[in-house]
Amino acid sequence: MKSKVSFVCQECGYDSPQWLGKCPECGMWNTLKEIQNSKFKIQNNGSSLGKINVEPKRLDQIRFQKKQRLLTGFSELDNVLGGGIVKGSAILLAGDPGIGKSTLLLQIGLKMATTKEKVLYISGEESEEQIKLRADRIKTSKTNSSLLLLSATNTDLICSIIQKTNPTLVIVDSIQTMESENVAGLSGSVGQVRYAAFQFIKLAKTLGIPVVMVGHVTKEGMVAGPMVLSHMVDTLLFLEGEKFTATRILRSLKNRFGPVDEIGLFAMEEQGIKELNNAEQLFLSKDSKDSSTGSILSVTMEGTRAFLVEIQALVVLSKIPIPRRVASGIDYRRLELLLAVLQKHCGLPLSGMDIFVNVAGGIKLSDPAADLSICLAIFSSYRNIKLSRKVGIGEVGLLGELRKINSLEKRMKEAKKLGFKDIISYNNFKTLSQAVNFLSHEE
Ligand code: TYD
Ligand code: MG
Repeated sequence: MKSKVSFVCQECGYDSPQWLGKCPECGMWNTLKEIQNSKFKIQNNGSSLGKINVEPKRLDQIRFQKKQRLLTGFSELDNVLGGGIVKGSAILLAGDPGIGKSTLLLQIGLKMATTKEKVLYISGEESEEQIKLRADRIKTSKTNSSLLLLSATNTDLICSIIQKTNPTLVIVDSIQTMESENVAGLSGSVGQVRYAAFQFIKLAKTLGIPVVMVGHVTKEGMVAGPMVLSHMVDTLLFLEGEKFTATRILRSLKNRFGPVDEIGLFAMEEQGIKELNNAEQLFLSKDSKDSSTGSILSVTMEGTRAFLVEIQALVVLSKIPIPRRVASGIDYRRLELLLAVLQKHCGLPLSGMDIFVNVAGGIKLSDPAADLSICLAIFSSYRNIKLSRKVGIGEVGLLGELRKINSLEKRMKEAKKLGFKDIISYNNFKTLSQAVNFLSHEE
């Protein structure tokens, strides 16, 4: 039986059944306050604790029970989750303000509501009218009057409404706006955010209703943001992308019920967010067939998917004592390292040059397989040699050697599928200088 009284730390939201002088979670003294739990009662549906019959089981006798999953209507999202939303799981969708979290979740709500699922969308940021306006903008084909909307911020009230309506999915937008009278502090403070998340997660687990919470990432640090909640939720998703480009990438940083390296691709459009299923060419600039110098292709892996990306470089004589090096889409220190390798092992005198490197399409590359292409793009710009129909795949070591990388075959297949057959990799060159020499004399 759950006692009707519990003690909640006013600093961090830790919940204890008895009074303690020191909070075991945040270490603060005298911060636990007694609160009444009467508003937050959870019915025990039949399985009373008294009847628990615990015995160890033999591994071969455990039958694999497939978790029931809800399909969201977005196959990109279902893939990232590992096949849909697991019943009773808690998901946190994090991202910068304005990136499209509310739009994505509202669309999920609308899509699922058409399949006769009862979805409850709780917003602490917008009124019901505002949400309706947004829903009208998104315009789905069928009428979706069955989506339930609630504009509220009081978590105790919300929890009792969830229990009463018993939906198949709860969406909370956003966790930073939720507040409870049981915890001191303004909404958005660490204590409030944690306590609210704790309440929703507890409800999700006991009632088996999955809950998706939105968490804003703040630039000032992630204090009250998604990071304090990451250990509490089952799945932590990040929606990212540049605000000025339409592409949105959904990643999972933690997933108890699925893979963590899959990504989902979306595009933010005038009428809502759309998924991109065939996105191999997404990061190629439109005129990549045009042969200009300073550009080469590479194939990057995200999870199990391969994407062709275009890497561009511009090398010009510098007029300032310390030449500029600008990297966008790749790590700045990686660029410096590769420049040093080019200078030392390929004899390119780059020290007096301004160098700019960019990954077209706004994707960020952390894959070391892009090293070779970065080097060759710089070489191409410096020597005015056209490489724009070629593909470079390989990691470059400090000694100028090309290293083997994972899934080379898969990457090559992807490039060939899109018509790029001229591939430079570990398979034809063992060092960067061999590749550079070959390309210098090719034309
Ligand atoms: P929103 O989902 O409110 O972001 P978040 O909840 O992550 O803060 O998205 C806001 C932005 O998206 C806003 O700049 C308007 C734009 N938008 C579209 O481009 N198309 C649409 O259909 C909608 C609803 C919004
Ligand atoms: Mg929002």
